[in-house]
Amino acid sequence: MKTIIEPFRIKMVEPIRKTTRAQRQELLKKAHYNLFNLPAEFVTIDLLTDSGTGAMSSEQWAGIMLGDESYAGSKSFYRFHKVFKDLTGYQHIIPTHQGRASEKILFEVVVGENQIVPNNTHFDTTRANVEYRGAKALDLVSPEARNFQSPDPFKGNMDLSKLKELLERDRERIPLVMLTVTNNSWGGQPVSLENARGVSQICEKYSIPLFLDACRFAENAFLIKKREVGQGNRSVRDIAQEMFSYAKGCTFSAKKDGIANIGGLLAFQNSEWAAEARNLLILTEGFPTYGGLAGRDLEAIAQGVLEVLDETYLEYRIASIAYLGKHLADAHVPVVQPFGGHAVFIDAKGFLPHISREQFPAQALACELYLHGGIRGVEIGSLMFGKTDSKTGKQIPAEQELLRLAIPRRTYTQSHIDYVIEVIIEVFEKRNEIRGLKLVEEPPSLRHFTAKLEQNSGDT
Ligand code: F0G
Repeated sequence: MKTIIEPFRIKMVEPIRKTTRAQRQELLKKAHYNLFNLPAEFVTIDLLTDSGTGAMSSEQWAGIMLGDESYAGSKSFYRFHKVFKDLTGYQHIIPTHQGRASEKILFEVVVGENQIVPNNTHFDTTRANVEYRGAKALDLVSPEARNFQSPDPFKGNMDLSKLKELLERDRERIPLVMLTVTNNSWGGQPVSLENARGVSQICEKYSIPLFLDACRFAENAFLIKKREVGQGNRSVRDIAQEMFSYAKGCTFSAKKDGIANIGGLLAFQNSEWAAEARNLLILTEGFPTYGGLAGRDLEAIAQGVLEVLDETYLEYRIASIAYLGKHLADAHVPVVQPFGGHAVFIDAKGFLPHISREQFPAQALACELYLHGGIRGVEIGSLMFGKTDSKTGKQIPAEQELLRLAIPRRTYTQSHIDYVIEVIIEVFEKRNEIRGLKLVEEPPSLRHFTAKLEQNSGDT
Protein backbone atom coordinates (compact mmCIF):
# COMPACT_ATOMS: atom_id res chain seq x y z
CA MET A 1 0.00 0.00 0.00
CA LYS A 2 1.23 3.49 -0.83
CA THR A 3 -0.71 5.24 1.92
CA ILE A 4 1.17 5.46 5.19
CA ILE A 5 -1.47 5.59 7.90
CA GLU A 6 -1.20 6.95 11.44
CA PRO A 7 -0.22 3.75 13.30
CA PHE A 8 -2.66 4.36 16.17
CA ARG A 9 -6.31 5.07 16.75
CA ILE A 10 -7.64 7.80 19.01
CA LYS A 11 -8.99 6.93 22.44
CA MET A 12 -9.19 10.32 24.08
CA VAL A 13 -9.77 13.71 22.45
CA GLU A 14 -9.19 17.31 23.37
CA PRO A 15 -11.30 20.05 21.74
CA ILE A 16 -9.63 22.69 19.57
CA ARG A 17 -10.87 26.23 19.91
CA LYS A 18 -11.60 28.39 16.89
CA THR A 19 -11.15 32.14 17.03
CA THR A 20 -12.00 35.00 14.67
CA ARG A 21 -9.43 37.12 12.88
CA ALA A 22 -10.51 40.16 14.94
CA GLN A 23 -9.90 38.21 18.17
CA ARG A 24 -6.51 37.06 16.98
CA GLN A 25 -5.56 40.60 15.99
CA GLU A 26 -6.36 41.73 19.52
CA LEU A 27 -4.56 38.74 21.10
CA LEU A 28 -1.43 39.37 19.03
CA LYS A 29 -1.26 42.97 20.18
CA LYS A 30 -1.76 41.96 23.78
CA ALA A 31 1.00 39.34 23.40
CA HIS A 32 3.35 42.06 22.07
CA TYR A 33 3.83 40.09 18.85
CA ASN A 34 5.55 37.36 20.82
CA LEU A 35 3.71 34.06 20.39
CA PHE A 36 5.16 32.70 23.64
CA ASN A 37 2.84 35.18 25.36
CA LEU A 38 -0.34 33.78 23.78
CA PRO A 39 -2.70 31.72 25.92
CA ALA A 40 -2.61 28.29 24.24
CA GLU A 41 -6.39 27.95 24.34
CA PHE A 42 -6.57 30.58 21.59
CA VAL A 43 -4.27 28.63 19.26
CA THR A 44 -5.96 26.40 16.68
CA ILE A 45 -2.96 24.32 15.56
CA ASP A 46 0.00 24.59 17.91
CA LEU A 47 3.30 23.96 16.14
CA LEU A 48 5.37 26.01 18.58
CA THR A 49 7.29 22.94 19.62
CA ASP A 50 7.42 19.16 19.49
CA SER A 51 8.69 19.25 23.08
CA GLY A 52 6.42 17.73 25.72
CA THR A 53 3.39 18.23 23.47
CA GLY A 54 3.02 14.70 22.10
CA ALA A 55 0.24 12.24 22.90
CA MET A 56 1.09 9.38 25.23
CA SER A 57 0.03 5.83 24.43
CA SER A 58 -2.31 3.67 26.51
CA GLU A 59 0.77 1.76 27.73
CA GLN A 60 2.35 5.02 28.90
CA TRP A 61 -0.84 6.00 30.72
CA ALA A 62 -0.89 2.57 32.28
CA GLY A 63 2.68 3.28 33.43
CA ILE A 64 1.43 6.46 35.09
CA MET A 65 -0.76 4.29 37.32
CA LEU A 66 2.11 1.90 38.02
CA GLY A 67 4.52 4.68 39.07
CA ASP A 68 6.29 3.93 42.34
CA GLU A 69 6.52 7.22 44.27
CA SER A 70 9.12 6.08 46.81
CA TYR A 71 11.60 8.87 47.55
CA ALA A 72 14.64 6.62 47.15
CA GLY A 73 15.14 3.51 45.05
CA SER A 74 11.72 3.49 43.41
CA LYS A 75 10.87 0.56 41.17
CA SER A 76 10.12 3.03 38.39
CA PHE A 77 13.69 4.35 38.59
CA TYR A 78 15.09 0.85 38.09
CA ARG A 79 12.91 0.38 35.02
CA PHE A 80 13.98 3.78 33.65
CA HIS A 81 17.62 2.97 34.41
CA LYS A 82 17.49 -0.41 32.67
CA VAL A 83 15.80 0.93 29.53
CA PHE A 84 18.41 3.67 29.10
CA LYS A 85 21.38 1.56 30.07
CA ASP A 86 20.40 -1.10 27.52
CA LEU A 87 19.93 1.57 24.87
CA THR A 88 22.96 3.79 25.46
CA GLY A 89 25.47 1.46 27.10
CA TYR A 90 26.47 4.28 29.51
CA GLN A 91 27.41 3.40 33.09
CA HIS A 92 25.65 6.20 34.90
CA ILE A 93 22.05 7.14 34.15
CA ILE A 94 20.76 10.19 36.02
CA PRO A 95 17.17 11.42 35.64
CA THR A 96 16.49 15.17 35.47
CA HIS A 97 13.31 17.18 35.05
CA GLN A 98 14.18 18.16 31.45
CA GLY A 99 17.01 18.58 28.97
CA ARG A 100 18.24 21.97 30.09
CA ALA A 101 18.62 20.74 33.68
CA SER A 102 20.98 18.06 32.33
CA GLU A 103 22.89 20.74 30.41
CA LYS A 104 23.19 23.01 33.44
CA ILE A 105 24.58 20.21 35.60
CA LEU A 106 26.88 18.80 32.90
CA PHE A 107 28.44 22.20 32.21
CA GLU A 108 28.75 22.97 35.90
CA VAL A 109 30.79 19.78 36.30
CA VAL A 110 32.86 20.05 33.14
CA VAL A 111 33.04 23.62 31.78
CA GLY A 112 34.94 26.59 33.22
CA GLU A 113 35.48 30.25 32.42
CA ASN A 114 37.04 31.17 29.06
CA GLN A 115 36.73 27.65 27.75
CA ILE A 116 35.19 26.74 24.39
CA VAL A 117 32.45 24.18 23.75
CA PRO A 118 32.14 23.15 20.10
CA ASN A 119 28.87 21.65 18.85
CA ASN A 120 27.43 21.08 15.37
CA THR A 121 24.83 23.63 16.53
CA HIS A 122 23.93 24.52 20.09
CA PHE A 123 20.25 24.64 20.85
CA ASP A 124 19.37 27.96 22.54
CA THR A 125 19.29 26.57 26.09
CA THR A 126 22.54 24.67 25.49
CA ARG A 127 24.22 27.84 24.28
CA ALA A 128 22.82 29.83 27.21
CA ASN A 129 24.06 27.25 29.72
CA VAL A 130 27.56 27.23 28.20
CA GLU A 131 27.64 31.03 28.24
CA TYR A 132 26.35 31.08 31.81
CA ARG A 133 29.60 29.30 32.77
CA GLY A 134 31.60 32.13 31.16
CA ALA A 135 32.59 29.90 28.25
CA LYS A 136 32.12 30.25 24.51
CA ALA A 137 29.57 28.14 22.62
CA LEU A 138 30.95 27.55 19.14
CA ASP A 139 28.84 26.18 16.27
CA LEU A 140 30.74 24.14 13.68
CA VAL A 141 27.96 22.92 11.42
CA SER A 142 28.94 21.66 7.97
CA PRO A 143 28.81 24.31 5.23
CA GLU A 144 26.04 22.33 3.48
CA ALA A 145 23.58 23.35 6.22
CA ARG A 146 23.63 26.91 4.93
CA ASN A 147 22.37 25.89 1.53
CA PHE A 148 18.66 25.32 2.19
CA GLN A 149 18.05 23.73 -1.20
CA SER A 150 21.04 21.39 -1.37
CA PRO A 151 19.89 17.75 -1.40
CA ASP A 152 22.70 16.69 0.95
CA PRO A 153 21.12 14.01 3.18
CA PHE A 154 23.09 14.92 6.34
CA LYS A 155 23.12 18.67 6.67
CA GLY A 156 23.21 18.35 10.45
CA ASN A 157 26.82 17.13 10.32
CA MET A 158 29.75 18.71 12.15
CA ASP A 159 32.43 20.30 9.96
CA LEU A 160 35.29 17.89 10.69
CA SER A 161 38.10 20.00 9.29
CA LYS A 162 37.02 23.01 11.37
CA LEU A 163 36.84 20.79 14.46
CA LYS A 164 40.35 19.46 13.80
CA GLU A 165 41.73 22.94 13.30
CA LEU A 166 40.10 24.14 16.52
CA LEU A 167 41.39 21.25 18.61
CA GLU A 168 44.87 21.64 17.14
CA ARG A 169 44.89 25.35 18.03
CA ASP A 170 42.96 25.47 21.29
CA ARG A 171 43.03 21.98 22.76
CA GLU A 172 43.67 23.26 26.32
CA ARG A 173 40.52 25.37 26.28
CA ILE A 174 38.14 22.63 25.22
CA PRO A 175 36.65 20.52 28.03
CA LEU A 176 34.22 18.56 25.83
CA VAL A 177 32.70 18.43 22.35
CA MET A 178 28.92 18.17 21.87
CA LEU A 179 27.05 16.70 18.91
CA THR A 180 23.32 17.43 18.60
CA VAL A 181 21.18 14.76 16.92
CA THR A 182 19.14 15.81 15.03
CA ASN A 183 20.44 19.31 14.50
CA ASN A 184 17.37 21.23 15.62
CA SER A 185 18.54 24.78 15.00
CA TRP A 186 19.53 24.08 11.38
CA GLY A 187 16.32 22.53 10.15
CA GLY A 188 16.11 19.31 12.19
CA GLN A 189 18.71 17.85 9.85
CA PRO A 190 20.29 14.51 10.77
CA VAL A 191 23.92 13.69 11.53
CA SER A 192 25.34 10.64 9.73
CA LEU A 193 26.99 7.75 11.50
CA GLU A 194 30.08 8.40 9.44
CA ASN A 195 30.22 11.98 10.71
CA ALA A 196 29.67 10.92 14.34
CA ARG A 197 32.46 8.36 13.95
CA GLY A 198 34.70 11.07 12.50
CA VAL A 199 33.96 13.46 15.37
CA SER A 200 34.60 10.68 17.85
CA GLN A 201 37.96 9.77 16.28
CA ILE A 202 39.11 13.40 16.34
CA CYS A 203 38.04 13.71 19.99
CA GLU A 204 39.91 10.49 20.86
CA LYS A 205 43.06 11.81 19.21
CA TYR A 206 43.02 14.90 21.42
CA SER A 207 41.65 13.05 24.49
CA ILE A 208 38.55 15.22 24.67
CA PRO A 209 35.25 13.59 25.63
CA LEU A 210 32.38 13.71 23.16
CA PHE A 211 28.82 14.09 24.49
CA LEU A 212 25.62 13.73 22.51
CA ASP A 213 22.65 16.03 22.83
CA ALA A 214 20.40 13.06 22.09
CA CYS A 215 16.93 14.72 22.21
CA ARG A 216 15.88 13.30 18.83
CA PHE A 217 18.14 10.25 18.65
CA ALA A 218 15.44 7.95 17.20
CA GLU A 219 14.43 10.31 14.39
CA ASN A 220 18.13 10.75 13.61
CA ALA A 221 18.71 6.97 13.58
CA PHE A 222 15.71 6.40 11.30
CA LEU A 223 16.99 9.03 8.85
CA ILE A 224 20.38 7.25 8.89
CA LYS A 225 18.63 3.99 8.05
CA LYS A 226 16.83 5.65 5.14
CA ARG A 227 19.64 7.83 3.82
CA GLU A 228 23.10 6.52 4.73
CA VAL A 229 24.71 4.06 2.36
CA GLY A 230 24.94 0.57 3.85
CA GLN A 231 22.56 1.21 6.79
CA GLY A 232 19.23 0.23 5.22
CA ASN A 233 19.11 -3.30 6.61
CA ARG A 234 19.91 -2.47 10.22
CA SER A 235 17.38 -1.90 12.96
CA VAL A 236 16.96 1.69 14.15
CA ARG A 237 17.84 0.55 17.65
CA ASP A 238 21.10 -0.92 16.43
CA ILE A 239 21.99 2.30 14.59
CA ALA A 240 21.10 4.39 17.67
CA GLN A 241 23.31 2.16 19.82
CA GLU A 242 26.24 2.67 17.49
CA MET A 243 25.67 6.44 17.69
CA PHE A 244 25.70 6.35 21.51
CA SER A 245 28.85 4.20 21.46
CA TYR A 246 30.82 7.05 19.87
CA ALA A 247 30.24 9.34 22.88
CA LYS A 248 31.17 9.30 26.56
CA GLY A 249 27.74 10.35 27.70
CA CYS A 250 24.71 12.37 26.73
CA THR A 251 22.11 14.92 27.67
CA PHE A 252 18.54 14.04 26.71
CA SER A 253 15.17 15.72 26.86
CA ALA A 254 12.48 13.04 27.23
CA LYS A 255 9.99 15.63 25.95
CA LYS A 256 11.07 14.84 22.39
CA ASP A 257 11.95 11.23 21.57
CA GLY A 258 10.87 10.10 25.05
CA ILE A 259 7.31 10.99 23.90
CA ALA A 260 6.66 12.17 27.46
CA ASN A 261 5.29 15.49 28.66
CA ILE A 262 8.22 16.14 30.98
CA GLY A 263 11.59 14.60 31.84
CA GLY A 264 15.24 14.33 30.95
CA LEU A 265 18.43 12.46 31.52
CA LEU A 266 22.14 12.97 32.00
CA ALA A 267 24.39 9.98 31.32
CA PHE A 268 28.11 9.42 31.81
CA GLN A 269 30.78 6.78 31.41
CA ASN A 270 33.06 8.69 33.75
CA SER A 271 32.34 7.81 37.40
CA GLU A 272 33.92 10.93 38.91
CA TRP A 273 31.87 13.26 36.77
CA ALA A 274 28.75 11.22 37.52
CA ALA A 275 29.39 11.52 41.27
CA GLU A 276 29.80 15.29 41.00
CA ALA A 277 26.66 15.54 38.87
CA ARG A 278 24.65 13.56 41.44
CA ASN A 279 25.76 15.95 44.17
CA LEU A 280 24.62 18.93 42.13
CA LEU A 281 21.41 17.12 41.23
CA ILE A 282 20.47 16.85 44.87
CA LEU A 283 20.73 20.64 45.25
CA THR A 284 18.16 21.48 42.59
CA GLU A 285 16.52 18.42 41.04
CA GLY A 286 16.21 15.91 43.86
CA PHE A 287 17.53 12.55 44.95
CA PRO A 288 19.39 10.70 42.16
CA THR A 289 16.70 8.05 41.76
CA TYR A 290 14.03 10.56 40.79
CA GLY A 291 15.88 13.73 39.67
CA GLY A 292 12.98 16.17 39.73
CA LEU A 293 10.44 13.71 38.34
CA ALA A 294 7.60 11.72 39.84
CA GLY A 295 7.86 7.91 39.69
CA ARG A 296 5.00 7.94 37.19
CA ASP A 297 6.99 10.21 34.86
CA LEU A 298 9.90 7.77 34.93
CA GLU A 299 7.49 5.00 33.86
CA ALA A 300 6.02 7.06 31.02
CA ILE A 301 9.50 7.96 29.74
CA ALA A 302 10.82 4.38 29.93
CA GLN A 303 7.81 3.19 27.91
CA GLY A 304 8.03 6.14 25.49
CA VAL A 305 11.65 5.39 24.65
CA LEU A 306 10.71 1.82 23.75
CA GLU A 307 7.81 3.02 21.57
CA VAL A 308 9.80 5.68 19.75
CA LEU A 309 12.06 2.98 18.32
CA ASP A 310 9.10 1.22 16.68
CA GLU A 311 9.91 1.55 12.99
CA THR A 312 6.25 1.66 11.92
CA TYR A 313 5.89 4.71 14.14
CA LEU A 314 9.09 6.30 12.77
CA GLU A 315 8.09 5.67 9.18
CA TYR A 316 4.78 7.46 9.79
CA ARG A 317 6.49 10.24 11.73
CA ILE A 318 9.06 11.06 9.06
CA ALA A 319 6.50 10.67 6.25
CA SER A 320 4.12 13.08 7.97
CA ILE A 321 6.83 15.75 8.21
CA ALA A 322 7.71 15.25 4.54
CA TYR A 323 3.99 15.49 3.61
CA LEU A 324 3.78 19.01 5.01
CA GLY A 325 7.12 19.99 3.50
CA LYS A 326 6.40 18.62 0.05
CA HIS A 327 3.04 20.38 -0.27
CA LEU A 328 4.65 23.69 0.69
CA ALA A 329 7.57 23.17 -1.68
CA ASP A 330 5.16 22.28 -4.51
CA ALA A 331 3.50 25.67 -3.94
CA HIS A 332 6.97 27.31 -4.18
CA VAL A 333 7.07 28.24 -0.49
CA PRO A 334 10.82 28.33 0.36
CA VAL A 335 11.44 25.49 2.79
CA VAL A 336 14.60 23.80 4.05
CA GLN A 337 15.20 20.57 2.14
CA PRO A 338 15.52 17.66 2.43
CA PHE A 339 12.93 17.50 5.22
CA GLY A 340 14.29 16.56 8.62
CA GLY A 341 12.95 14.78 11.64
CA HIS A 342 10.52 16.82 13.67
CA ALA A 343 9.60 19.97 11.84
CA VAL A 344 9.37 21.85 8.57
CA PHE A 345 11.40 25.03 8.42
CA ILE A 346 10.34 27.95 6.22
CA ASP A 347 13.12 30.22 5.00
CA ALA A 348 11.68 33.60 5.98
CA LYS A 349 14.32 35.55 4.04
CA GLY A 350 13.09 33.87 0.88
CA PHE A 351 9.43 34.20 1.89
CA LEU A 352 9.64 37.90 2.82
CA PRO A 353 12.56 39.39 0.87
CA HIS A 354 11.13 42.90 1.36
CA ILE A 355 11.60 42.76 5.16
CA SER A 356 15.16 43.51 6.28
CA ARG A 357 16.83 41.20 8.77
CA GLU A 358 16.84 43.91 11.44
CA GLN A 359 13.03 43.71 11.31
CA PHE A 360 12.70 40.04 12.22
CA PRO A 361 11.17 38.55 9.06
CA ALA A 362 10.70 35.07 10.60
CA GLN A 363 8.90 36.53 13.60
CA ALA A 364 6.74 38.67 11.30
CA LEU A 365 5.81 35.51 9.40
CA ALA A 366 5.06 33.64 12.63
CA CYS A 367 2.66 36.42 13.65
CA GLU A 368 0.99 36.45 10.23
CA LEU A 369 0.33 32.67 10.31
CA TYR A 370 -1.33 33.14 13.68
CA LEU A 371 -3.36 36.10 12.46
CA HIS A 372 -4.50 34.33 9.31
CA GLY A 373 -5.23 30.84 10.61
CA GLY A 374 -4.53 30.56 14.34
CA ILE A 375 -1.35 28.56 13.70
CA ARG A 376 1.54 29.03 16.09
CA GLY A 377 5.07 28.30 14.88
CA VAL A 378 8.37 29.46 16.33
CA GLU A 379 11.01 31.84 15.05
CA ILE A 380 14.54 30.48 14.82
CA GLY A 381 16.26 33.58 13.56
CA SER A 382 17.42 36.96 14.71
CA LEU A 383 14.99 37.24 17.60
CA MET A 384 16.30 33.95 19.01
CA PHE A 385 19.97 34.16 18.03
CA GLY A 386 20.61 37.80 17.11
CA LYS A 387 21.75 40.51 19.51
CA THR A 388 21.26 44.19 20.14
CA ASP A 389 24.57 46.02 19.88
CA SER A 390 25.07 47.48 23.35
CA LYS A 391 26.82 50.58 22.00
CA THR A 392 24.76 51.51 18.94
CA GLY A 393 21.44 49.86 19.89
CA LYS A 394 21.36 48.37 16.37
CA GLN A 395 20.32 44.80 15.68
CA ILE A 396 23.04 42.27 14.86
CA PRO A 397 21.14 39.62 12.88
CA ALA A 398 21.63 35.86 13.22
CA GLU A 399 22.93 33.74 10.37
CA GLN A 400 19.49 32.44 9.48
CA GLU A 401 15.85 33.53 9.47
CA LEU A 402 13.78 30.39 9.83
CA LEU A 403 10.22 29.78 10.94
CA ARG A 404 9.90 26.33 12.44
CA LEU A 405 6.65 24.39 12.27
CA ALA A 406 7.33 21.64 14.80
CA ILE A 407 4.94 18.73 14.75
CA PRO A 408 3.99 17.27 18.14
CA ARG A 409 4.22 13.46 18.15
CA ARG A 410 1.02 11.47 17.47
CA THR A 411 -1.15 14.57 18.07
CA TYR A 412 -2.47 16.00 14.80
CA THR A 413 -4.03 14.13 11.90
CA GLN A 414 -3.60 14.64 8.18
CA SER A 415 -6.56 17.02 7.91
CA HIS A 416 -5.00 19.30 10.53
CA ILE A 417 -1.88 19.39 8.39
CA ASP A 418 -3.94 20.02 5.23
CA TYR A 419 -5.39 23.04 7.01
CA VAL A 420 -1.88 24.27 7.89
CA ILE A 421 -0.84 23.92 4.24
CA GLU A 422 -3.87 25.89 3.08
CA VAL A 423 -3.21 28.73 5.54
CA ILE A 424 0.46 29.01 4.61
CA ILE A 425 -0.24 29.05 0.90
CA GLU A 426 -2.84 31.81 1.34
CA VAL A 427 -0.35 33.85 3.38
CA PHE A 428 2.31 33.24 0.73
CA GLU A 429 0.02 34.63 -1.95
CA LYS A 430 -0.27 37.97 -0.15
CA ARG A 431 3.20 38.03 1.36
CA ASN A 432 3.96 41.51 0.06
CA GLU A 433 1.48 42.98 2.52
CA ILE A 434 3.31 41.64 5.59
CA ARG A 435 5.20 44.23 7.64
CA GLY A 436 8.34 43.88 9.75
CA LEU A 437 8.61 44.20 13.52
CA LYS A 438 10.73 46.15 15.95
CA LEU A 439 11.89 45.27 19.44
CA VAL A 440 10.60 47.41 22.26
CA GLU A 441 11.81 45.42 25.27
CA GLU A 442 14.22 42.51 25.75
CA PRO A 443 15.76 40.55 28.64
CA PRO A 444 19.55 40.00 28.86
CA SER A 445 19.46 36.36 27.67
CA LEU A 446 17.11 33.97 25.81
CA ARG A 447 15.31 37.07 24.65
CA HIS A 448 12.86 35.35 22.30
CA PHE A 449 10.89 33.92 25.24
CA THR A 450 9.90 37.25 26.77
CA ALA A 451 10.82 40.05 24.34
CA LYS A 452 8.13 42.56 23.41
CA LEU A 453 7.76 43.74 19.82
CA GLU A 454 5.53 45.98 17.78
CA GLN A 455 4.65 46.23 14.12
CA ASN A 456 6.54 48.73 12.01
CA SER A 457 4.29 51.32 10.55
CA GLY A 458 4.65 52.39 6.94
CA ASP A 459 7.44 51.17 4.69
CA THR A 460 9.61 48.26 5.70
N1 F0G B 1 18.65 20.31 23.04
C1 F0G B 1 17.89 20.38 21.94
C2 F0G B 1 18.47 20.00 20.61
C3 F0G B 1 16.57 20.82 22.05
O1 F0G B 1 15.82 20.88 20.95
C4 F0G B 1 16.07 21.17 23.32
C5 F0G B 1 14.70 21.65 23.48
C6 F0G B 1 16.89 21.05 24.44
C7 F0G B 1 18.19 20.62 24.26
C8 F0G B 1 16.42 21.39 25.83
O2 F0G B 1 15.51 20.46 26.30
O3 F0G B 1 13.35 21.69 26.58
O4 F0G B 1 13.77 19.55 27.78
O5 F0G B 1 14.96 21.59 28.45
N2 F0G B 1 14.01 22.02 22.52
C9 F0G B 1 12.63 22.47 22.53
C10 F0G B 1 12.26 22.93 21.16
C11 F0G B 1 12.28 23.40 23.62
O6 F0G B 1 11.18 23.52 21.02
O7 F0G B 1 13.00 22.66 20.22
P1 F0G B 1 14.34 20.85 27.34
